[in-house]
Formats: sequence, C-alpha cells, structure tokens
Amino acid sequence: MSEHPTDADRAKRPTLTTSAGAPVADNQNALTVGERGPVLLQDYQLFEKLAHQNRERIPERVVHAKGWGAFGHFTVTSTEVTKYTNAKLFAEVGKKTDLLIRFSTVAGEQGAADAERDVRGFSVKFYTEDGNWDIVGNNTPVFFVRDPYKFPDFIRTQKRHPRTNLRSPTAMWDFWSLSPESLHQLTILFSDRGLPVAPQYMNGYGSHTFSFWNDAGERYWCKFHFKTQQGHKHYSNAEASEVIGRTRESYQEELFGAIHEGRFPKWTFFVQVMTQAQAEQVDFNPFDLTKVWPHKDFPLIEVGEIDLNRNPENYFAEIEQAAFSPSNIVKGISFSPDKMLQARIWSYADAHRHRLGAHYEALPVNRPKAPVHTYHKDGLNRFFSDNDNPDAYYEPNSFNGPVEDPSYLEPPLKVEGVARRYDHREGNEDFKQPRALWQLFSDAEKARLYTNLAQAMHGVPDFIIARQLGHFEKIDPAYAQGVRDALARTAKSDETMETQKDVDRMALHPSA
Ligand code: NDP
Ligand code: HEM
Repeated sequence: MSEHPTDADRAKRPTLTTSAGAPVADNQNALTVGERGPVLLQDYQLFEKLAHQNRERIPERVVHAKGWGAFGHFTVTSTEVTKYTNAKLFAEVGKKTDLLIRFSTVAGEQGAADAERDVRGFSVKFYTEDGNWDIVGNNTPVFFVRDPYKFPDFIRTQKRHPRTNLRSPTAMWDFWSLSPESLHQLTILFSDRGLPVAPQYMNGYGSHTFSFWNDAGERYWCKFHFKTQQGHKHYSNAEASEVIGRTRESYQEELFGAIHEGRFPKWTFFVQVMTQAQAEQVDFNPFDLTKVWPHKDFPLIEVGEIDLNRNPENYFAEIEQAAFSPSNIVKGISFSPDKMLQARIWSYADAHRHRLGAHYEALPVNRPKAPVHTYHKDGLNRFFSDNDNPDAYYEPNSFNGPVEDPSYLEPPLKVEGVARRYDHREGNEDFKQPRALWQLFSDAEKARLYTNLAQAMHGVPDFIIARQLGHFEKIDPAYAQGVRDALARTAKSDETMETQKDVDRMALHPSA
C-alpha cells in the first residue's frame, strides 16, 4: 500500500508541483488501466520524472573529473605588489574579494577514490570588481611537459588502455622515459607531497609564468604561490590503501567536515616577480613550465591570505558547474609567452562550451559579481533575460549600447623571432632543478621516494625501466641506485603486483 502524506503533514510542507508549476496530486502511484497496468501514456508526470533522471548527468571534465570545492575570501595583507600591478583586488590592506576554490585529481573519473597518488588541481576563481580572475593551477609548481602538443598524449597515458580498459603503468613509464622534461614533476609526484591527506594540507601554485602590469605601462613577469597554513600532511601508499578501503571520499569528508565545523582552511598568497632584464639573464627559460624560479633569486612577496569558510549548498550547481579558465584575467594581470599557457587560454573555454553550453559564464557560480554587458546573443540555454537596452544589439550603435574603455588597455608586448616548430627538447636542461629538489629531501624522504617509484614501476618492461633509470642517473647516480634497490625489494616482496604485470602483458601482446 502506498503512503500518502497526512493532512497535518501537508499543512506544514510546500506542495509538490510539476516543473511547469502545477500541483501534483499523487507522487506515489502510476496512472494505469486496471490495478495491474498497463500505464497510460498521458501520465505526463511519470514521464517528466523519468526524463529528468535520464538527463541528470553532463559530461565529466575530460581531466580533473573528481573534485571538491568551497567558497571563501582573499584578504590583502600587504600592498608591496601594487608597484607591479594595478589589479584592483590588491589595492589596499584589508580589502576582501570573494572566491571559489575547486581542488581535484587529474586522472581519475568522477567516482575515483580521493586518496590516490596523483597531482592535485588547485583552481581559484576571484570574483573581482573588474570581472573574474581564475588561477587554474596545481599543487605542484611545475608540470610533466612543456609543449602543448604533448598534453593530450600525456593524458592518454594516465587514462585507460583501449583494450584492457585498465590504467597502464607501462604506458605511463614509456611516455615519461621518452620525456625527460617530466623528471622534475615526477620527483614531486612520487615524493611525500604526491599524496596529501586532504586539500587543506597542500600548497597551490599558478605554475606558469604570468605577467603583471601597472599604470606606468610597465610589465613584470610573475608566478603565484599559495602556501598552506595547516602544514603539509601526507599518506604513505600503505596508509592510503587502508583509507580507500574505508572510504573513497576522504577529501570530501575532510574538507566539507572542516568547514562545517568552523575549522576554516587558510593559505598565504605570495608572488614572485621577475623583470624583463632578469628574464634575459637567467640560465633557464623562465617561460618553461618544467622549471621553478629559485627563491633565493626571486624571493616570495606576501600579498594576502585566502580562506575557505562556506560549503556549497548544491554540489552539482556550484562545484560541478564551476568553469575555471586561464583565459579569465583582469586589468593588471596578463599572460606570458609560455606555450602551455597559450594553449590553455583557448582550451578551457572550449571545454566549457562543450560541457556546460555557450552561456556557461552566466550560470550563478560562474557569473561575475561585476556588471556584465556583452553583445553575445542567443543559443541553447539562454536562460537569462537581462536585455537592458534592446535596441543596442550590435556595435557600433547610436542607442547607448556598451562601449569599450581604453583605460583597460594592456601595455604592448614586444615579440620577435622566426616562426617555426622549435624542438622543445633542445637547449633545455632537465636535471638541475629535480636534483635541487632531491638534495632537499632527508634520507628518509629519499627512501620513500625510491619505494614509491619502484611500486609504480613494478611490472613495466625492463627496457623502459632501464631508460628511466638512465634519467635518474643523470640527476644523481645515488638516485638511480636507490630506485634500482627498491625495485629489487618490491619484486621480491609483493606478489599481488604480479596481476598488474599480467595486465600490461595482455595489453602489449593482445594475441598472446
Ligand atoms: P628553497 O629551499 O628556497 O625552496 C624549496 C621549496 O621546496 C619550498 O617551496 C618547499 O615548500 C618545497 N618543497 C619541500 N619539499 C617538497 C616536496 N617534497 N615536493 C615539492 N616541493 C617541496 O629552494 P629553491 O627555490 O631553490 O628550489 C629548490 C627546489 O625546490 C626546486 O628545484 C623545486 O623542485 C622545489 N620547489 C621550489 C619552488 C620555487 O618556487 N622556487 C616551489 C616549490 C618547490 P614549502 O615552503 O611549502 O615547504
Ligand atoms: C582541467 C586542458 C594543462 C590544471 C582541464 C580541462 C581541460 C584542460 C580541457 C577540463 C576543463 C573543464 O571541463 O572544466 C589542459 C590543456 C593543458 C593543460 C590543453 C596543456 C596544454 C594544465 C596545467 C595545469 C592544469 C599545466 C596546472 C598548472 C587544470 C585544473 C583543471 C584542469 C586544475 C580543473 C579545473 C577545475 O577545477 O574545474 N584542463 N590542461 N592543466 N586543468 Fe588543465
């Protein structure tokens, strides 16, 4: 027998309606001819309910599909940076700007377990008075590749093998061992910081070089850093397996729980600044995403603090529909020639139009808190109707439509050179900075790095491992030896890993 609410219950609660607003008389029983059916086609409410369910999913992000997010503020603590940029959000100490942060893992699908070793995304949307500024960064200051042609190839190796539909360590290490520019990022990924306990225990980095510009029309190159105030906390592989055995949603639980209980996570926001003259002198390409700028030469300048203090009310509307893009910059902040950044400027808005539709910027979570006046017009899901001046729907016009403001013009950027496809492996040193990082690690950290690498490489064909050990050798012979020893120990100790070896054999020799 189906349960209908009592009259007393109904008096306390809103009336259920169709999406057209008509009250629903019965939300328990299908409309049938006779007690045993069939169902009448005119039971529109039933079909509306089923049709909505069929349309509840949108494409997941092609990368960074699993994520966690919350809202908060950026607060200025020092105005030193105003020498370099006229961006209004930095204007005075104490000034607050609303923001949204979405954290993510790169490779896993939307249902992936949170405590997996992977790079973490760290996307910040600042809702400034001059429009939205997005920093779409990671918890690492560098990346695996330096040329955008290699991004889809790299991502292929992180996703599933076409035949086995399993992730393939062979593909990963084949690609990495053929891409020595990945060594810096690999050394971070397999160090302790490659598996943080929760988003609040990791740093964020803009990673690319960006630029600042000021009222004098001067441009400076800059990098963005968010340092955790909670301290770094990480899991070992064994601890993470145990956590995943208990819960696949440990990040959501930790982040949502902390904010719910008033333990608001905070980060200190720093920038590094480089002049054009310095950019011409440093012994590395400052626009190469596989490189950091050493702190001793380019000290961190404190700018402010960010905090997260409000959980989303509706995860889908506010986190899944959030659309971050490196193309979202505001006055005083701009791009750099970094080839990877240049490709990303185009790629993200394209991804959003595919995933969320052409009017994705008008969705409440993406909508700027600054006024928006464009001449964009119609299209699927034009769900807003703020036509404040219906006669000015083209430009130029004589009917007071929105016009440009030259005070927002960015200073000119001198660019010169010969157009050709430059070999991104030529003239770039791949070993010095990973060596500097490796030298920072204690003996215990180094030992864990070797073990983590060996566990990830287990079962990969010997010729690929030999090629990768050759790269580690160039960082330091002790690095390569550490991994070699750990590989020997891993081979002896963990028979369960043989499954992975078989899987990769099946992938490589389908007919065997
Ligand atoms: P510094 O000694 O001044 O800085 C070392 C940096 O390394 C700190 O930012 C520290 O972060 C970070 N760090 C410590 N352990 C790890 C780890 N396991 N994984 C990633 N980062 C870690 O040195 P330099 O500026 O000369 O850089 C030396 C090396 O440090 C670089 O080659 C790079 O690999 C790494 N690094 C450098 C950064 C930079 O912007 N210069 C940024 C991040 C890493 P924290 O302060 O949070 O402890
Ligand atoms: C997400 C492309 C490199 C950080 C994405 C998405 C695409 C993409 C298409 C999905 C966007 C969406 O559907 O919402 C690329 C390309 C790259 C590149 C083409 C290189 C050429 C990088 C780098 C970083 C990065 C270097 C970090 C420094 C992120 C983050 C997200 C993301 C954090 C998730 C954003 C969110 O939280 O919604 N990337 N990416 N990507 N990417 Fe990249």
